[in-house]
Amino acid sequence: MKIFLDTANIDEIREAHSWGILDGVTTNPSLVAKEGKDFLDVVRQICAIVPGPVSAEVVATTTDDMIREGREIMRKIGAPNVVIKIPMIREGLRAIRTLSSEGIRVNTTLIFSSPQALLAAKAGAAYVSPFIGRLDDISHVGMDIVRDIRVIFDNYEFKCGILAASIRNPLHVVDAARAGADVATMPFGVLEAIIRHPLTDVGLKKFLKDWEKLPQQMRAGS
Ligand code: E4P
Repeated sequence: MKIFLDTANIDEIREAHSWGILDGVTTNPSLVAKEGKDFLDVVRQICAIVPGPVSAEVVATTTDDMIREGREIMRKIGAPNVVIKIPMIREGLRAIRTLSSEGIRVNTTLIFSSPQALLAAKAGAAYVSPFIGRLDDISHVGMDIVRDIRVIFDNYEFKCGILAASIRNPLHVVDAARAGADVATMPFGVLEAIIRHPLTDVGLKKFLKDWEKLPQQMRAGS
């Protein structure tokens, strides 16, 4: 499963990229607004750091405007790894079809049901983003739709990637991997949390303490 960061914060992206495990980045209008920086500049900077897919979302809501905005973002950023995020609304379907047929990869966002994902894949989306945490928030098991989408895509050999989004905790990451999601996109805090385990820290501390008991000349290589 690929690991994406769900952020527009350049420091977080640089840091995670330096660990050698970052496959891509997703942004959305809320995340960009939180940083208070120019949208295109931010996406340009992210694309320069991360070679994998970087999602940038349109804010238009009519078909023609979404297509225009998607093309514009691609042209102005000029990086091959940009993926255009289109919301899963009626007007979005033809925008997905048109942009995909031009070779622009589309990530369909705000997916809350498996039939929505089916339609996005049929329209030619490169990714669908089911929002797990927001479904959990309203007492639906968000991960169930990832499981359903996996079955549907496998049944019909859709090449569309399942990008588990709105991930809120480490358990979501584990469940997404078990459900066969192609990607999990997560906030920096969740990525940090899945690195850590208290027993790893306790174990390392003990190894280093015990090592001190070995006379200096017996510590090969140190
Ligand atoms: C996905 O691409 C979205 O940016 C994101 O995962 C939304 O997460 P949230 O529900 O925590 O805002």
